[in-house]
Amino acid sequence: MQTRLLSPGPDALALAARLLNDGALVAFPTETVYGLGANALNPDAVRSIFEAKGRPADNPLIVHIYDRAQLEPLCTVPERAPLLMDAFWPGPLTMLFPRKSTIPDIVTAGLPTVAIRMPSHPVAAAMLEACRLPIAAPSANLSGRPSPTTAAHVMEDMSGKIPLILDGGPCDVGLESTVLDLCHGRPVILRPGGVTKGMLEEVLGEEVELAGSILRPLKPDEKALSPGMRYRHYAPKGTVTLVEGDDKRVVETMRSLCLKDLSGGKKSCVLCFSEHVDQLSGCFPHDMGSRRDEKEVAHRLFDILRALDQEGMETVYSEVLPPEEVGLAVMNRLGRAASFKTIRI
Ligand code: TXA
Ligand code: MG
Repeated sequence: MQTRLLSPGPDALALAARLLNDGALVAFPTETVYGLGANALNPDAVRSIFEAKGRPADNPLIVHIYDRAQLEPLCTVPERAPLLMDAFWPGPLTMLFPRKSTIPDIVTAGLPTVAIRMPSHPVAAAMLEACRLPIAAPSANLSGRPSPTTAAHVMEDMSGKIPLILDGGPCDVGLESTVLDLCHGRPVILRPGGVTKGMLEEVLGEEVELAGSILRPLKPDEKALSPGMRYRHYAPKGTVTLVEGDDKRVVETMRSLCLKDLSGGKKSCVLCFSEHVDQLSGCFPHDMGSRRDEKEVAHRLFDILRALDQEGMETVYSEVLPPEEVGLAVMNRLGRAASFKTIRI
C-alpha cells in the first residue's frame, strides 16, 4: 500500500473522512501526539489498528470525539465529569467512563470502561467533524516505540501500512494526554500528561490520586490500572540511565560515564538541559531544553528518543526533572525509557 502524506486542506480532509467511513486507517495530528484513527464502531477497522501497530490486544484504545453530543450513545457520564469537560475539553485530558454496548469489545479490550478524549488540534477537530464518527486512535507509532510528534515520525513507522497521513506539523504538547479514571471513587491519574494533578484538583475541589506505577516499574503481582503501563514503552534500543542528584555532580558523573563508554568503543551520549550543553561537549549532548521550561522538555523528548535509535546509541545518560506538574509526565516517559534505572548521587 502506498502511504500518502497530505497537508490538511479541504480535499485531504474529505479523503480522510471517506477512508474512515470505509473502514480504513488515517493518521492525524493532535495537540499531544499523532493518532492512528479508525471508526470506533467498526470492529474490523479497529482490528487493523492493532495489526498496523503490532499492539497487544489487551491494551485498550482512546475514542476521540469533537462534540459532547457524541457521548450519549457511547457511555454514561459520571457526575464530576462535566466540570472537567468545561475546564479542559477540547484538550489533552482523557477520561474513563462506563461504556455502553455500542462500543465494540475490541476498543476497550473487554473492559467495562471506555477512554474518551476531545482533542483541541484544529486538524483533528476538522477530521472528526468531517467523518462524523467517533474515532478510536492510539498513538501512531509501532508498539514499543516513542509516540510520533511529527508526520515524519509517523511515516517512519507506518509507511506502506496505511493509506493516509494528515501532516499538521509538529505537535504542541509532545507527550500523550493525561488519562484520568473517574469511575472508581476518588479520581486517579493513570497516565500523567499536560493536564496536571494540580489543575484537576483546582477544578474538582478534591484530591486526585496518582497511580502507583507512574514513577516505578509494576511489581510482578501488581495489576495495571491502565493496561498500557505494563508494556516496555518509549524505549530506545540502547540502555538509558537516569542520573539524579546535585547539579554539578550530575554533570560530572554523566560526563565521566559517557567518556568511559566512548573510549571503550561504545556509541554513547548524554541528554541534558540547555544550561549544561557546553559543559558536556565531547559527550554528544542532546539538548532537552531549559530545565526551567518543563513544557519545552516535554515537547522535545520523543524526537530525541527517536534520534537515539537512528544514531545507533548503545548507552545514554540523562538528567532528570523534578517529578511535578508537567515534569511528572516527562519523568514517567523518561523513566520508562530507562526501565527506571537510576544512579543517585
Ligand atoms: O494523547 C493521547 O492520548 C494520544 C492521542 C492520539 O490522542 N493517544 C494515545 O493513545 O496516547 P494510546 O493508545 O497510545 O494510549 C492510551 C492509554 C493506554 O495506556 C491504555 O492502556 C489506556 O490509555 N487506556 C485506554 N482505555 C482504557 C481503559 N478503559 N481503562 C484503562 N486504561 C485505558
Ligand atoms: Mg501509545
